[in-house]
Amino acid sequence: MTTNRFIVLKSRPSGKVRASDFEIVAGPVPSPAGGQLLVKNLYLSLDPGVRNLLGVEEGYLPPIAIGNKLSGTVLGRVIETRHSSFEKGDLVLGRGWIGEYSLIVPNDLCWKFDPRLYPTLSSAIGVLGITGRTAYFGLLEVGRPKTGETVLISGAAGAVGSVAGQIARINGCRAVGIAGGETKRRRLVEEFGFDAAVDYKGRSVPELSAVIAEACPNGVDVFFDNVGGIVLDAALSRMNWAGRVAVCGLISQYDAAPPPRMTNLFYIVAKALRVEGFLLAQFADRYAQAVTDMRRWIAEGLLRYREEVAEGLDEAIPAFLSLFEGTNQGKTMVRLR
Ligand SMILES: NC(=O)c1ccc[n+]([C@@H]2O[C@H](COP(=O)([O-])OP(=O)(O)OC[C@H]3O[C@@H](n4cnc5c(N)ncnc54)[C@H](OP(=O)(O)O)[C@@H]3O)[C@@H](O)[C@H]2O)c1
Repeated sequence: MTTNRFIVLKSRPSGKVRASDFEIVAGPVPSPAGGQLLVKNLYLSLDPGVRNLLGVEEGYLPPIAIGNKLSGTVLGRVIETRHSSFEKGDLVLGRGWIGEYSLIVPNDLCWKFDPRLYPTLSSAIGVLGITGRTAYFGLLEVGRPKTGETVLISGAAGAVGSVAGQIARINGCRAVGIAGGETKRRRLVEEFGFDAAVDYKGRSVPELSAVIAEACPNGVDVFFDNVGGIVLDAALSRMNWAGRVAVCGLISQYDAAPPPRMTNLFYIVAKALRVEGFLLAQFADRYAQAVTDMRRWIAEGLLRYREEVAEGLDEAIPAFLSLFEGTNQGKTMVRLR
């Protein structure tokens, strides 16, 4: 019998998530039921949003019970199928287990793909997978930037943020990034081609608001927010009339209890802002368009991306924690052999 090693939730984190909240456990490889796929995982995507499933409240999915398997986006090969649209040997991306094998129920966040159309296998889970598609639809469909506008992006040196900023530039906008630390701030301009970038670390809301004003002399038309908290608070104070806030994620608040007090919410009224959250699955009927555009931009050298690849399941938890420390340097994933 083949063994499956996977990660389970050992305790609910209160505040900062810790390695001791998880455990690697071994069990038998299951058989798929009707409508399911059994997949040998090749890459595991580590996403900050999984933090929202570790508490007791229902978020975009129900919370994970103590002792249950950690779930997330996985890329793997179908080794057994009981779903008529998938064959043995297909490469798929879908919601599976953070482990060596997954049972997947195909849905809007599951698709099979032809590896010849992707520059690398890992790009199918990163820039051309959930990360890039989130940036693409969140910016273009929710933020709706117009040529010449200023687009401000938080978490800008990260997987989603770095792609969102480059798509803003490709669409003729001025892209300004917010990231933690001088190395990431410089990288935004020098590697990803942002027009300007600011470091949020160690700054109060008024201080951050002042540096955003310097970097955005014409104000902010679109704010693509990955972070929330004081970064969102500061950005609200710099929004232009009828500006749009595309709320992609709130990573600064996933671990924080209670979240910081917001001081600039009245700008939503005073500047007639549209503040809109979104989930990638809302755009499932147009994934092909995003992949076609982004593949072309990569080929033309207009879209760059970084990946942070951890090797083996034992590295999955340290790599997950790095998302909250800000020590990851790109789309964070685990490669399994
Ligand atoms: N809406 C959707 O469908 C969807 C889909 C995918 C992802 N997301 C969201 O997109 C966001 C980015 O995800 P990602 O996968 O691209 O991760 P990522 O940006 O590659 O990594 C997380 C980054 O967040 C920053 N961060 C961590 N704690 C922070 C804090 N307290 N304050 C400010 N920044 C903090 C760190 O960068 P610094 O070093 O700059 O602090 C860290 O590197 C997350 O909020 C995620 O939940 C949403």
